[in-house]
Amino acid sequence: MIADPALEFIDVCHHYGDTSAVQGFSLELAEGEIVCLLGPSGCGKTTTLRLAAGLEVLQYGEIRIAGKPVAKSSDFSLSPEERDVGLVFQDYALFPHLTVKENVAFGVRNYRDNEMADEISQLLKTLGIADLANRYPHSLSGGQQQRVALARVLLPKPKLIMLDEPFSGLDARLRDQIRDDTLHLLKQSGAAALLVTHDSEEAMFMGDRIVVINNGVTQQIGRPEEIYCEPANIFVAEFFSEVNRIYGFVENGKVNTTIGIIDSGNIAGGTEVEILIRPEALRLTRPTKQSFEFRVQAIEARMLGRSSLVHLCTDGVDGEQIHLHARIPGRYLPEKNERLRIDIDPNQTFIFPKP
Ligand SMILES: Nc1ncnc2c1ncn2[C@@H]1O[C@H](COP(=O)(O)OP(=O)(O)OP(=O)(O)O)[C@@H](O)[C@H]1O
Ligand SMILES: [Mg+2]
Repeated sequence: MIADPALEFIDVCHHYGDTSAVQGFSLELAEGEIVCLLGPSGCGKTTTLRLAAGLEVLQYGEIRIAGKPVAKSSDFSLSPEERDVGLVFQDYALFPHLTVKENVAFGVRNYRDNEMADEISQLLKTLGIADLANRYPHSLSGGQQQRVALARVLLPKPKLIMLDEPFSGLDARLRDQIRDDTLHLLKQSGAAALLVTHDSEEAMFMGDRIVVINNGVTQQIGRPEEIYCEPANIFVAEFFSEVNRIYGFVENGKVNTTIGIIDSGNIAGGTEVEILIRPEALRLTRPTKQSFEFRVQAIEARMLGRSSLVHLCTDGVDGEQIHLHARIPGRYLPEKNERLRIDIDPNQTFIFPKP
């Protein structure tokens, strides 16, 4: 027998006055699956999560948890307590008058039991905060508070956890560490998780699947590699990295540009198109003696750590000057004004009819 999805949204819509915060949202979260809701500020991520948690009253559609309806249109809604969902918010919401141990135990009855005490110690140890068990929240750093909030949610072993921007208050290093811990703990616990973020790298790191949202409308749902390599539209392509942009017209199944000939897929001849090329798709090499190859000129180059960023401009053969960014792994620093041969990786090049 196939297990019921841990969480289902069926054609959910939500308005605040004239603002349409969520439009026709549908999603199934499988048991143990981590799904990230990704999109810019104000696109409706928090609203979606609050609707599932029962913190916002549903207006249209249906929400089911473990196969059971928990809210249907505006006529039926279970309270948050009845939904058995673990929640982690950006502000952690720890109780100031309780110690770390007591905060974690809050909400789980009989926490004085030895067994429960053992479980709490084990959980605090896994999260690297065992030595903080008797401290109060005001004496903890943001990262430590975040771990306590996570321990509190994991202790009752919920089947479904929702996290709203849980890593946003942390500095980059600590955030990477806590993200990593959280990913492994969620996977170990077997809980399904819905995680809200506006950071595409975070979504790719954490999510088994990602839902990209813009203005309350789902743009694409898929695995990280699908969304990155086969974006459904310009918005999705741009949300995951900086992109180079070139315009052109389709002619005989191709677009001739000053840096290469690009396959136009099934876009009709004569269509004006926008071509998006990720910086890592541009390959640079020494010019050869070949009679014809596409060339560009380096104008700046900087090493950024794992990769080098090379600023380029086209030769301007037909008068059109384009500024491009190429990202090359490791150290690659061509001279200023050096002429280079350019090749484009078609797998990181996306072509759409110009909107
Ligand atoms: N209580 C409310 N009353 C009126 N409008 C609201 C309310 N809550 C949210 N909105 C509006 O609904 C839209 C979606 O808000 P939501 O908080 O879901 O966005 P978000 O994607 O979580 O954004 P952020 O990344 O900034 O947290 C926004 O336009 C917001 O202004
Ligand atoms: Mg939000």
